[in-house]
Amino acid sequence: MKHTKIKDLLSGSSLLQEVVAKGWVRTFRNNQFIALNDGSTIHNIQCVLELDTFAEEIIKRITTGAALSIKGTLVESQGKGQKYEIQVSSLEILGDSDPEKYPMQPKKHSLEFLRENAHLRVRTNMFGAIMRVRSTLAYAVHKYFQENGFFYVNTPVITGSDAEGAGEMFQVTSLPLDGSAPRNEDGSINYKEDFFGKHTNLTVSGQLEGEAYAMALGSIYTFGPTFRAENSNTSRHLAEFWMIEPEVAFNDLDANMDLAEDFIKSVIKYTLEKCEDDLKQLEARLIDEEKSKPQAERSDMTLLEKLNFVLDNNFKRVSYTEAIDILKASKPNKNKKFQYLIDEWGADLQSEHERFLVEKHFKCPVILFDYPAKIKAFYMRLNEDGKTVRAMDILFPGIGEIVGGSQREERYDVLVEKMKALNISEEELWWYLDTRRFGSAVHSGFGLGFERLVLFVTGMTNIRDVIPFPRTPGSAEF
Ligand code: 4AD
Ligand code: MG
Repeated sequence: MKHTKIKDLLSGSSLLQEVVAKGWVRTFRNNQFIALNDGSTIHNIQCVLELDTFAEEIIKRITTGAALSIKGTLVESQGKGQKYEIQVSSLEILGDSDPEKYPMQPKKHSLEFLRENAHLRVRTNMFGAIMRVRSTLAYAVHKYFQENGFFYVNTPVITGSDAEGAGEMFQVTSLPLDGSAPRNEDGSINYKEDFFGKHTNLTVSGQLEGEAYAMALGSIYTFGPTFRAENSNTSRHLAEFWMIEPEVAFNDLDANMDLAEDFIKSVIKYTLEKCEDDLKQLEARLIDEEKSKPQAERSDMTLLEKLNFVLDNNFKRVSYTEAIDILKASKPNKNKKFQYLIDEWGADLQSEHERFLVEKHFKCPVILFDYPAKIKAFYMRLNEDGKTVRAMDILFPGIGEIVGGSQREERYDVLVEKMKALNISEEELWWYLDTRRFGSAVHSGFGLGFERLVLFVTGMTNIRDVIPFPRTPGSAEF
């Protein structure tokens, strides 16, 4: 007999019928009540054993974590806490779980302990909820773009280019690392002998290839893994993360901001509708976590209130120059509370500044635009003032930067001049320059760090907790 997902059983549609459920034991009470979960929903189904009808040897093996197949009748529950339950007629132990050794005990574990057991943490309510929300958000991303005329483009994972010019890349090579790699006359490694006949790395962004596709398909998006070897051990950085990068021909920066705002609101709205139970669980978790904080640091909104606030309010659009004026005049700057004091135009904004703007000053999501050219990547369009570029960053409460994007420099000469100044190889990016040589036009795009979005929507505070198996400096377990 085929088994039914617990989510469907709990809808009651097979009431009074014989059903089969398969899942893992969460708890077993009084030798009689099994709480069974199969991951289809945060809710367990209660399976009731009639006393003295099951052999002692079987009863002993019903332990937390064991996999079971249960057959019985779906009935209305007499007890409190659930509407339906299964009156068990037969039961099979599919896989035992030694209660002395099983790490996921039915009690509260620290997030650190759960990270060390990332292969099992998804069996907890909290991580089940996070990962279902993550999956729903990913679906919402595709849904939004597909329904708005965007084409999904798969850009290469292995590439020769450094799109961000930040140099924080993982090298890809098949050359031996024991010193026997072929050398040039000057002693440097001869990458012509390497697998691809050149120096390659894991991609830091699919943008450049995405631009080439936008200049033919019009509107495209990427959604794939991205790698950065930046040694930042923070709660916002991963060495391997997923990025969503839309790119649109003929969009200027204003249209780019409109797209980003509409997109973010749309995926949050969809997830609010689809993941109500999971989000309620995560909301309760956050309230519980905040209890351990001093009153002043607690959020004045619950998780669902925060998500609805984002849907109901316009993102505040502020130029970099205005932001610097606000920061210069701010209390933490005057009282020297910022680690990096803002004293002049041109300073790069640190996350403490971004969070001040979003959480203390504007108290809503903020889009900062027109940054100094000096602190942004080579491909951003130079403004008429000659010193700022058409860049935009979206800053979110509790997260800081969630989106980075820009209108691209579409003028061939200006782009080449910029690349020369920054020592970016024209030879390497010949194909990128071709997009400016043949049918160039205004175009824009942005990158959204998927895990930062999942952080915001789940109310979690460490990015390691919103990706199944995080990769961070010094850690690539699993
Ligand atoms: O601001 P970034 O570096 O922009 C780009 O890569 C552009 N090529 C995007 C584009 O215009 N198509 O990265 C974009 C976003 C950031 O705003 C952040 O959300 C996320 O990617 N991000 C990270 N997320 C997790 N861990 C990291 N180490 C991240 N670095 C960037
Ligand atoms: Mg950025």
